[in-house]
Amino acid sequence: MAAAKRYYLTTPIYYVNDAPHIGHAYTSLACDALARFKRLDGFEVKFLTGTDEHGQKVAKAAEAAGVDPQTHTDRVSQHFRDLSPVMNYSNDDFIRTTEPRHARACQELWKRMKANGHIYLGRFAGWYAVRDEAFYDESELVDGKAPTGAEVEWFEEENYFFDLSKWQQPLLDFYEANPRFLAPRTRRNEIVSFVSSGLRDLSISRTSFKWGVPVPDDPKHIMYVWIDALTNYMSAAGFPEESGDYARFWPADLHMVGKDIIRFHTVYWPAFLMAAGLTPPKRVFAHGWWTNEGQKMSKSLNNFITPQDLIGRYGLDPVRYFLLRELPFGQDGNFSHQAMIRRINTDLANDLGNLAQRVLTQINRNCEAKVPQAGALTEADDRLLAAAHGMLARVRAEYDEQQFHRALEAEWEVVGAANRYVDEQAPWALKKTDPARMATALYVLAETIRHLALLAQPVMPQSSARMLDLLAVPEVARSFAALGPSGALKAGTPLPKPEGIFPRHVEDGPAAKAGG
Ligand code: MSP
Repeated sequence: MAAAKRYYLTTPIYYVNDAPHIGHAYTSLACDALARFKRLDGFEVKFLTGTDEHGQKVAKAAEAAGVDPQTHTDRVSQHFRDLSPVMNYSNDDFIRTTEPRHARACQELWKRMKANGHIYLGRFAGWYAVRDEAFYDESELVDGKAPTGAEVEWFEEENYFFDLSKWQQPLLDFYEANPRFLAPRTRRNEIVSFVSSGLRDLSISRTSFKWGVPVPDDPKHIMYVWIDALTNYMSAAGFPEESGDYARFWPADLHMVGKDIIRFHTVYWPAFLMAAGLTPPKRVFAHGWWTNEGQKMSKSLNNFITPQDLIGRYGLDPVRYFLLRELPFGQDGNFSHQAMIRRINTDLANDLGNLAQRVLTQINRNCEAKVPQAGALTEADDRLLAAAHGMLARVRAEYDEQQFHRALEAEWEVVGAANRYVDEQAPWALKKTDPARMATALYVLAETIRHLALLAQPVMPQSSARMLDLLAVPEVARSFAALGPSGALKAGTPLPKPEGIFPRHVEDGPAAKAGG
């Protein structure tokens, strides 16, 4: 029997200090598109997201809200859980770091690192930024602040340490042996040079506050929040249970992260795992950050864009499409309403929407609302069908590199080719003169639209489903196994009445008054 194809991917777990904004939604959306792609491509997928509920930052946010940390985290975590139906995420699990399954995994990981001699008790004195939950060297400070701009405080206490300094060479060897581990390339270079410049042992426990997972055999200490947080990826797989998901899904195929947390995922995390005798994940991809109309989104500017705002204004699938199409994945970029409207009206309404609408309306009118019968194919027919059939290989390669914008670009090349074909073939003009040729051209177009709709499913699940409904493609024929000639539409299949799927965004409508 062929080995099962499995794919385990994770979002970062979100701090429960605020409501989700578009930056958070973006990380999870990219994972959702990839998870859906892999399922459609025949993989058994585990797609994990969740919330990061311990640490000083969360304890302080709870204090500011005037509630105990558990009440606070219960409340805020729910906002992140509620985002799944709003954004149509297909996550298989949602982990909270306050769950017992998580404490168990953290303690087991700690015990294994300790048993292997990588944890020792010492005294820490240095600078700590609560906002980043990270330590900084005196030499790293800029005008008395962390290089990220976060406030730092002097911090001195007895701590457990992890012997990170010993992991410089093993990490460099690991990066060398696993060229796909860290992407994109610029980030990889950054991390390799950071590690090459030397690593210091890392303080990994706290005694000054209590909101965390207790250290095994020394419960006056709690674990440093990043050991706790990173371990979520294993606790959700059932670690340390050797059976079940852990055996089937570890090591994870992909941790998707924002560029700000790459050091934790590509330096600390593989070092912790190797120290415990466990296998590091296969890949970490760091994406860029969104700004809002040119400005960083921040509390002080009060300019966070929420997913709910955007969806209310533009609709869910257009928002999903825009976020993944507009920015080269991995780079920073700017959100603007103008760009959003341009994508909706051009790519979706004019290009794909109009193609489907024109073709389906003609089939409805001129082919008795049934899938037309194709005759002999011309060179132009073969060319368009070959482009449609060739999409999967290209798109798959882009998804495997997390280049979502390029995958969509490849699909829209075929949209463009199909629109040119409609203009050249002008099937509506053949109704009287050559109805057989008209039927063939419309068939070729319907087949092309079927391919486009199947491949658009990961990014626009609802709109693609409606397109497939209009082509009467049954549920069982919607995976990528149905791409290509084997799943071709059958002549004579009755089709429902066509309807528009991607309306234009009309700027003088009530929605546009909100600005834009
Ligand atoms: N709790 C940690 C992660 C622990 S993972 C073991 C954390 N949480 S966070 O809520 O601050 O950030 C979660 C993710 O949202 C990060 O990947 C971050 O990069 C992403 N984003 C936050 N703001 C963003 C933008 N403005 N744009 C794009 N992504 C952004 O870090």
